[in-house]
Amino acid sequence: MQEIRIGLVGLGARALGTWLPLLQKLDGFKITTLCDPVPATHRPALERLADPAGVTVCSSYEDVLRRTDVDAIALTVRCEEQGALAAMALEAGKHVHAEVPGAHRIEDCWRIVRAVERTGLTYQLAEQTRYWGFVDAWRRMVADGELGKITFAEGQYFHYHPGAMFRDPETHRLYGPDDLAEHPGARPTWSQLMPPIHYLPHELSPLLSVLDDRVVEVVGMGTDGPSAAHPEISQPDLQVALMKTAKGAVLRLAASFVQPHPEGNWHWYQITGTTGRVEWKRAGHDHPKIWRFGQGPDLVDADWGFERPDAPAAARGSGHGDADYYTHIAFRDAVLADQQPDFDVYRAMDATAPAILAATSIEQGSRPLAVPDFRNP
Ligand SMILES: NC(=O)c1ccc[n+]([C@@H]2O[C@H](COP(=O)([O-])OP(=O)(O)OC[C@H]3O[C@@H](n4cnc5c(N)ncnc54)[C@H](O)[C@@H]3O)[C@@H](O)[C@H]2O)c1
Repeated sequence: MQEIRIGLVGLGARALGTWLPLLQKLDGFKITTLCDPVPATHRPALERLADPAGVTVCSSYEDVLRRTDVDAIALTVRCEEQGALAAMALEAGKHVHAEVPGAHRIEDCWRIVRAVERTGLTYQLAEQTRYWGFVDAWRRMVADGELGKITFAEGQYFHYHPGAMFRDPETHRLYGPDDLAEHPGARPTWSQLMPPIHYLPHELSPLLSVLDDRVVEVVGMGTDGPSAAHPEISQPDLQVALMKTAKGAVLRLAASFVQPHPEGNWHWYQITGTTGRVEWKRAGHDHPKIWRFGQGPDLVDADWGFERPDAPAAARGSGHGDADYYTHIAFRDAVLADQQPDFDVYRAMDATAPAILAATSIEQGSRPLAVPDFRNP
């Protein structure tokens, strides 16, 4: 196979803003099919194709899965069935490159893993923050033992996003709580119904990559819904999870989407070991920080960035500090070389399942829950 024939499914903001441009720009991809159940999405997507001739547009996912001119599904949907849709594609013989968070149910995680094991097809989670420059630098430092034994790490995703919480089913336009008086027909979206802690793969994936570890136990706690910041929104303002890893580290993670947070501080991470600590910056004008035991009393500035110093020209401007490029390339190379990607289906579920279980723990009064190892039945 010289190029991967892609069915792009879910024609919303992420597909239009990132996936359609990248799939046309990067070598090795050919978009043959576009799909979304909402007809209003079809034209804007077609208009973004440089060469729409021969591209099929459809509303039925099952129709895409039946097509013989689709080798792989690029899954950019936002819905509770996200994981089941990925599993269905694998079961239908298609490779899958799927957007974060990957799944919203543990049984869908298992279904994806088992389908990959049975078919040998590629499943790649499009979690891109693990490719950031500072994450790569931290991974090498931890692997070289520069921070000692890792005992504690934190990650948080605080992204104020109320404008995606309601949607007009006809026009497909998104609205925030302040628009409801003018658009009374707008309905709550999955973003509003989803437990915010489900969106942790952007924190877990880079942290677990740095630690070369997996989560074995999780406990969650959150504020109560509806939001105190926007009482029209049923989602709680904030959810937090504590996790224990197989190597014995404790993680503290948090997610929040409906209360205001500064834009320059959506993601934040720190890693603490027995001989040092590294931290991401707290504000746009701030710097990342490092402290090493025996080298002074305080943290000092470091110069890591989102962008990787070794990024090729094609990565520049791909999105999220160049990182969007890397999941596409990893997926392409795995499919064309007929091998599993480095961020394989097990690592993808290591970053997905603890988030789902954190929400289950909250539902069950903050009960600690064991996280399955998807490598073992
Ligand atoms: N990796 C990142 O940095 C990043 C950034 C933004 C969004 N995302 C992810 O990308 C995905 C899409 O986000 P978005 O902002 O474009 O959402 P969106 O709501 O704008 O678009 C999602 C589209 O999926 C369609 N859809 C829903 N259920 C479907 C189904 N069963 N079959 C086919 N289509 C279906 C909807 O009609 C909609 O057009 C989400 O999973 C989101 O979490 C990831």
